[in-house]
Amino acid sequence: MTAAQFHTLTVESVGTLTDDSVLITFDVPDELAELYQFTPGQHVIVRADIDGEDVRRSYSICSSVASGDLRVAVRQIDGGVFSTFANTRLGAGDTLSVTPPTGEFVLAPDSSNSMHYLAIAAGSGITPIMSMIATTLEEEPDSVFTLLFGNRDGLSIMFLEELSALKNRFPARFVLMHFLSREMNTIPLFEGRLDADKLEALFASVIDADAVDTWYLCGPAGMVDEATDLLRSRGVSDTAIHQELFFADRDAVRPAPPIPDTDAGSVVNFTLGGRTTTTVVPTDGAPILDYVLAVRRDAPFSCRNGACASCRSIVVEGEVTMDHNWCLTQEEVDAGQILTCQSHPVSDTVVLSFDI
Ligand code: FES
Repeated sequence: MTAAQFHTLTVESVGTLTDDSVLITFDVPDELAELYQFTPGQHVIVRADIDGEDVRRSYSICSSVASGDLRVAVRQIDGGVFSTFANTRLGAGDTLSVTPPTGEFVLAPDSSNSMHYLAIAAGSGITPIMSMIATTLEEEPDSVFTLLFGNRDGLSIMFLEELSALKNRFPARFVLMHFLSREMNTIPLFEGRLDADKLEALFASVIDADAVDTWYLCGPAGMVDEATDLLRSRGVSDTAIHQELFFADRDAVRPAPPIPDTDAGSVVNFTLGGRTTTTVVPTDGAPILDYVLAVRRDAPFSCRNGACASCRSIVVEGEVTMDHNWCLTQEEVDAGQILTCQSHPVSDTVVLSFDI
């Protein structure tokens, strides 16, 4: 992740998805069209100045590749600065700063594939999956997609109509099952959360898990962890399991703490966009990212929760410790990659590079 490269895009439309979520379509000018091509599952980082605050959030692209649209869905959450702005104030003709698509939670379609994909999604975790389903059904004529989609109740289901339309268009290749945690269903199997017990019951009855080639899990940590453990216990290899965490409070990003004046701490040299900068970071204070941003406002970040990898860098020299890591793979960690929003220096000197 090199320096954050934002381009100004005009909002083409803001449509209503549910009572508390909107669908934002961006107008991508011809000269940027190639830069904004995406693989299903990728996200963009959206940046806005909202009442004087520099706010950045990552949102998954939910449109299909064939549509040619760049769309994200934003659910409003209590206290969410950007999500409230998007749901109450954003309109067609407004402009936002948006990075090109990025991210490794992807399904790259191949027309010669003959696969069975199964996605387990909850709430707004549907957004990257929506792009995967639509694109795969359109571009892989021999592949099948099953979606297990959990929500609170019928009114909170994002893309309800779009999913039904896909089901009608591809009845033999798209299996859609809704699960509602706060609504009764005449079939108890479709009530409740998508936890391990529910998945076991599904695998014992209506889903042949052994026929699934690739799994996509997208939702809160509890759901993703339970599903992953269950799949591993059934012998599914990690290479067949793809995960992305979606936090209900992903917009409730903690504000950056004020940076204390200090010359006590580790000396951190970091390279960003080919330029090397030095700062001093206490070993027991705010994370490295906060100190980096104090001297380089072009540093990349989004969630500040350890969930998006926007702030990723690699440790070239020295030692750091991470509080949380919800998105780097073990291989990436073993290769020295860190999330700077979760990292604190341990050694007296640390050398980092964001240019990876
Ligand atoms: S900013 Fe999202 S993981 Fe660090």
